[in-house]
Amino acid sequence: MKSYQINPDFLWGVATSANQVEGGWNEDGKGMSIADCLRYRPELDVTNYKVANTITSKQVEEAVSDLSTKRWGKRHGVDFYHNYRDDIKQLAAMGISAFRFSISWARIFPNGDDEEPNQAGLDYYLDVVKEMKKYNIEPIMTLSHYEIPLNLVLNYDAWYDRRVIGFFEKFAKTVIDYLHGYVKYWIPINEIDSIIRHPFSSAGLIEDRFPRENFKNVIYQAMHNQFVASARIVKYCHETYPDIKIGCMITSTMVYPYNSDPRNILRTTELMRSVYAFSDIQIRGKYPKYLLNKLKEEDIEIKKQPDDDEDIKDGTADFIAFSYYSSVCTAYDTTGLQVTKANRINGVYNKYLPESEWGWQIDPIGLRVSLITLYDRYQKPLFIVENGLGASDVLTSDHKVHDDYRISYLRDHIQEMLTSVMEDGIELMGYCMWGTTDMISASSNKISKRYGLIYVDLDDEGNGSYKRYRKDSYYWYKALLSFGNKIPLSFFDRPLENFDTSTAS
Ligand code: BG6
Repeated sequence: MKSYQINPDFLWGVATSANQVEGGWNEDGKGMSIADCLRYRPELDVTNYKVANTITSKQVEEAVSDLSTKRWGKRHGVDFYHNYRDDIKQLAAMGISAFRFSISWARIFPNGDDEEPNQAGLDYYLDVVKEMKKYNIEPIMTLSHYEIPLNLVLNYDAWYDRRVIGFFEKFAKTVIDYLHGYVKYWIPINEIDSIIRHPFSSAGLIEDRFPRENFKNVIYQAMHNQFVASARIVKYCHETYPDIKIGCMITSTMVYPYNSDPRNILRTTELMRSVYAFSDIQIRGKYPKYLLNKLKEEDIEIKKQPDDDEDIKDGTADFIAFSYYSSVCTAYDTTGLQVTKANRINGVYNKYLPESEWGWQIDPIGLRVSLITLYDRYQKPLFIVENGLGASDVLTSDHKVHDDYRISYLRDHIQEMLTSVMEDGIELMGYCMWGTTDMISASSNKISKRYGLIYVDLDDEGNGSYKRYRKDSYYWYKALLSFGNKIPLSFFDRPLENFDTSTAS
């Protein structure tokens, strides 16, 4: 094998979300969303997930009464709202064929429960997708990526309230009806399993609003409501627009046993199942027995309505989208074992792997293991919609960013992915790396955890010119994409330190 051969219609792209790039948080009729309530807190250890993921009513009140943008990173983002034409042009020049991004729900229905949609919001997204189409870029649209309108949190308790299913349906159908001529691939909810790890930023749930309820019960009820809403949208698309493909999405943080002690292997299987439960429901159309047993054991009661099971059964997704950043180990007894970090979870440290600046362990083979595992489980097309490296890049005085560490991360993950496509018999629709320009990081609400291929001159306090500068990784990805569907193996041996950005452009 001298080259990797992939399908000509393989979607090579980039990915981002509205709340992390757009800004324009209160422009043209947009309402406030939960993302606008998340502040950069220099004093906070964002990898102390237990503390960082818990948002209180008091914090939300403070957010509502402070209308400034500094330190509220997701209010200003990187100004994609005004800069989308130039950003898309720069990304198109790299040769991408797909761009995953999301719609801000509060830009379409500012309060979530409005009678009529905000036309300015709809037109904005129409312009954005038209701009992508101009360069033959396929938009991959996420409907809800961590930003339910705040009004639905304060007056309905967000996804816990069944009425929110209806509001989401109305929002989703409005957007799909408006954009279906341009957008073929849809994902209703980003990382649907993340509701368990960070219930506020994922689903708008604030624990102190439920003093008399077991909060786990609240989370699982909201989870169920999200399943029903998602399934109804899948069903709607299948019935109304048969050319649309609509996926589910999970977080694939690969879990390995700490060692070969069978009890650790069992614990690993249980942890992986706690995420697969979500794709099991959205692909197989019913709650798996192991989840029902767990709910019963923990005394959690989900209130269902008569049609819910039928909706979930009829609205199964066409493909499985997933994010992959890193892996962790686990053990049945973790006492005394070194802790490691991953995407808003902790695990046991894996001595075989290096780690990123944020302590996420870098494991390209874990991506291949994810692909095989998910394909063996479902035999459905897969789509890698997030994979990337957060790092504190440095802009040199001559406006370059020498991010060979990011190139090395992407190179190794992409090579494992291509090997998997060639050898493992999986079906893969595409690969969207996480990062377009830099953006505000989801967990830390700051830009200095940078993911982009294009650097944005902005700091965590919100100061900067917002100017864009291509990083070395931009030129590397561009060189990769120039090979189309036949990528020579030798490309992956090219020394990174000799990567010549001037000739690659
Ligand atoms: C994914 C989210 O889980 O992780 C993204 O879908 C997020 O929104 C990404 O940006 C990386 O996480 P973080 O916290 O480093 O931005």
